[in-house]
Amino acid sequence: MLEKIQETANFLLAKMPIRPKTGIILGTGLGNLVTQMDIEMEIPYETIPNFPVSTVEGHKGKLILGKLGGVEVLAMQGRFHFYEGYDMKAVTFPVRVMNALGIRNLLVSNAAGGMHPDFEIGDLMIITDHINLFPEHPLRGKNFDELGPRFPDMSEAYCKDFIAKAKQIAERNHIKVVEGVYVGTSGPTFETPAEYRYFRAIGGDAVGMSTVPEVIVANHAGMKCFGISIITDLGVPGKIVEVTHEEVQKIGDSVQPLMTLIMKELVKGI
Ligand code: HPA
Repeated sequence: MLEKIQETANFLLAKMPIRPKTGIILGTGLGNLVTQMDIEMEIPYETIPNFPVSTVEGHKGKLILGKLGGVEVLAMQGRFHFYEGYDMKAVTFPVRVMNALGIRNLLVSNAAGGMHPDFEIGDLMIITDHINLFPEHPLRGKNFDELGPRFPDMSEAYCKDFIAKAKQIAERNHIKVVEGVYVGTSGPTFETPAEYRYFRAIGGDAVGMSTVPEVIVANHAGMKCFGISIITDLGVPGKIVEVTHEEVQKIGDSVQPLMTLIMKELVKGI
């Protein structure tokens, strides 16, 4: 694994005209942030050695290197989901590579179902913490001390300083944000009403099928993380209706400019 990471990092380093400290992973249909970037270079996943290839509709699948708000960033347009069939080492491989490229901050976005009774469709939720319910752990197996400790601390998986800054940015720009705990589950089914109730009962405010593996690996590597969910549907008793991928994308589309603004201002302040 170490060699693969290094091989991929070397391939990218040889091409990269800049050395960003911040990486961004854009979730389902949330690639519009790149329209706000001054793009230096786009690298399709299929041209990158050892990179898995993204398959889901709405995922473009490329690395985008450039500046956001004048700050150098490396954005992943499209991520790898466990439900697509990738194992957790593949899902989190790009984060390992980011770390090998010298990236120290990781910003992630996703679409999620809201379970907090006060949440509304279209809300932006700043992730304060997560609950990992994936059936496979990205750090299971031999630990490579070069990559991080055997038993990583997760007491501040989402950087408190980044959260405080994002809240200030939202307030300054009159953007409504909520905060909450993200439950990461494998999918690809959306939840039954009983599952939403269960995830709520164990302390979740929103549920989705991504983010947790990447944030675990980023924490293992000592990177600072920030996550934001777009609430695209509600898993709140009495408000549960049919959920479709199309609806999730439509809501995601309409709210992404606000999320982009928060991300853009945040990268300037970290
Ligand atoms: N559940 C799981 N993943 C999701 C949801 C949901 O309700 N909405 C968007 N992604």
